[in-house]
Amino acid sequence: MNPAIAAPPIRLGVNVDHVATVRNARGGALPDPVRAARLAASAGADGITAHLREDRRHIRDDDMRRLKAQLSLPLNFEMAATDEMVGIALDIAPHACCLVPERREERTTEGGLDVIGGGTELAHKVAVLGKAGIRVSLFVAPDPEQIAASAAIGAAVVELHTGTWCEALASGHRTAAGAELARLRAAATQAASLGLEVHAGHGLDFASAETISAFSEVRELNIGHFLIGQAIFEGLETSIRRMREAMARGRAALRATAG
Ligand code: PXP
Repeated sequence: MNPAIAAPPIRLGVNVDHVATVRNARGGALPDPVRAARLAASAGADGITAHLREDRRHIRDDDMRRLKAQLSLPLNFEMAATDEMVGIALDIAPHACCLVPERREERTTEGGLDVIGGGTELAHKVAVLGKAGIRVSLFVAPDPEQIAASAAIGAAVVELHTGTWCEALASGHRTAAGAELARLRAAATQAASLGLEVHAGHGLDFASAETISAFSEVRELNIGHFLIGQAIFEGLETSIRRMREAMARGRAALRATAG
């Protein structure tokens, strides 16, 4: 097999939400998530992701505007599928929007989007954003029905929720982790066969990012919490460089398997 076909490039999107979390803990302007995004860009990130939550607990409207205005990298605007957020996204015009479920009481995004339950309203929002030239991604669990529904309503991308797998890994539940990884593998194959671009994210660290990078269908990883936490110990540039190395090892393993 031609290795170039077997292993297309994989991009790293760096999520800067938690730089804003630290800033907001004290009020004021520092640390600035836009400065972190610029540093991520110079350290090898392919894109910047930020989640404007309805409660504005980390990223704020002005951060999104500054990220768009001051960065040349593609901006991935993570958001709930609400009329308010669609309006802001149309105004800011990011490269991509990733639609996620959101509950105010959750600590982070829990579970994937219910694309089936979202019905015609969700389909309409996907169409409106798509018509504005924004690449629409749906953050879904590795569930065959949700993936089929994502293709049916015209999304360009699905981002597979890796959180359940990462939690099983972190708590040492090897059987559960193996089963969830098999679901992710099947979901990536299904999504790609339906013409969807496949991304993955949530809870990834160096080891899990390396594993998931060995899925040929996965074209982008979006990673935040681990990288920002790791930056405390070794700096953001080193953390991002090490993450890129982990992803490259995963891709190299794929090439080795493909022969
Ligand atoms: N992708 C999506 C859709 C998310 O909601 C999040 C969390 O904001 C991430 C990726 C990044 O997850 P983490 O911060 O755990 O790396």
